Amino acid sequence: MVVIGTHGRHGLGKLILGSVAEQIFRHADCLVLTVGPGSFQDAPVEGSRAIRPFLFATDFGACRCMPCSTPSPPPITSGQNSFCSMSSQRSRCRRAPIVLGNKVALVTGGVSGIGLSTCRLLAREGACVAITDILDTEGKRTADDINSSGGSARFWHLDVSREDEVREVLRQVRQTFGRIDVLVNNVVILGANKPTHEITEQEWDHLMAINVKGVFFCTKHAVPYMKETGGGSVINLSSIYGSWLRAMLPRIMLPRALCALMTKNDAILYAPDKIRVNSVHPGFIWTAMVEKLAAGTGAGAEAVRQQFASKHPIGHLGEPDDVAWGIVYLAPEEAKFVTGSELVIDGGYTAQ
Ligand SMILES: NC(=O)c1ccc[n+]([C@@H]2O[C@H](COP(=O)([O-])OP(=O)(O)OC[C@H]3O[C@@H](n4cnc5c(N)ncnc54)[C@H](O)[C@@H]3O)[C@@H](O)[C@H]2O)c1
Repeated sequence: MVVIGTHGRHGLGKLILGSVAEQIFRHADCLVLTVGPGSFQDAPVEGSRAIRPFLFATDFGACRCMPCSTPSPPPITSGQNSFCSMSSQRSRCRRAPIVLGNKVALVTGGVSGIGLSTCRLLAREGACVAITDILDTEGKRTADDINSSGGSARFWHLDVSREDEVREVLRQVRQTFGRIDVLVNNVVILGANKPTHEITEQEWDHLMAINVKGVFFCTKHAVPYMKETGGGSVINLSSIYGSWLRAMLPRIMLPRALCALMTKNDAILYAPDKIRVNSVHPGFIWTAMVEKLAAGTGAGAEAVRQQFASKHPIGHLGEPDDVAWGIVYLAPEEAKFVTGSELVIDGGYTAQ
C-alpha cells in the first residue's frame, strides 16, 4: 500500500499523517509518504514508530520519491487482551490488535448482516466480543469462527426486548470478560408493512419493544459497567431514514429516528462519565433485513437491488463491512472527541 500525504512536516499535518501511517502500517507491507517540499533528511517525524522508516519527502516541482527498500514489517503477534481467557489462540494471528486490545465489546443482533461484520471486525482489531442474538445456532457458529481464526468471542442468547434478560446477560458478560467498554445497539426488526393508520397497537408495541426499548435496556444496563471502568462507547445503529430522508413507512423511520434522538440525549448525559454515544446511519446495505424489504415489494430481488443501488451516487449498495468499519472507528479512545455525532455511511445518498 502507498499512502501519499501533503503538508506532513509540521503541526497538525504531521500528527495526522503520523497517526494514519501508524494505523495503516499495520495493515500494509509497505508505506510511502510524501510530506511536502524539502529533502528526505528534512522530514523527520517524531513520535511515530511506524512511519519513520517509510518516510519520503517530495518536492512537488521535482516529485522525487525514493523507492521503498525497507523490508516488510515483522510479523506482529497479538494476545494482549488480559481480560479474555480465550486470548491464547490469538498468538497465531499475524496482525496486532490496532486499537481495541483490552476492550470488551457487546454487539446486539450480532449473527447477521451489519452485526455479524461488526463482531468479526471488532474481534480482528483486538476486542473480546460478546455476540448476542436470538439465533443460538448461528450465534455459536459465529463465536467458533472468530475464535478459530485467532479472535476472542463468546455467544449469549439475548432478546433485547426483555429487560430481565438484558440485565442478566450484561452481568454475565461483565463477569466473564471483566468489563464492558463498547456497546453496539444493532438489533432491528422490520415490523408490519403498513401505513400509520393501519398499524395495530400490538404491532406497534412489538416494533417499539425491539427497535427502541431494546436500545434503552442495553444502554441502561451497560452504563453502570462503563462508569466502573472510567468510560466507554455506545454506538447506536440508526439509518439515513432516521435523520435525513422522509416519506418512508413508520416501521422504518420512527424507531431509527428515536435511536438518533436517544443518542444525542445520552451523549450529553454521559459525557462527564467519559461515555461517548454516537449513531451510525447507513444507506442501503444488502442484508437479511433488506432482502425482506425487497421481498415485500413483489419485484424480483435483483430488480430491487438495482433500484436501491441507483439511489446511491456511488452506484451500488453498501456491504456490511462498510458500516462495521465505521463502528470500529467509533469504538476506541482514538475517537475520544467524538460524541453525539451521526456517522453517515451511505454512498452519497443523502448528499444529493
Ligand atoms: N441493512 C441496511 O440497509 C440498513 C440500513 C440502515 C440502517 N440499518 C440498521 O443497521 C442495523 C442492522 O441491520 P441489518 O440489516 O444488518 O439487520 P439484519 O436483519 O441482518 O440483522 C438483525 C439481527 O437482529 C437479530 N434480532 C432480531 N430480533 C431480535 C431481538 N428481539 N433480540 C436480539 N436480536 C434480535 C436478528 O436475529 C438478526 O441477527 C439495524 O439497526 C438497522 O436499522 C440497516
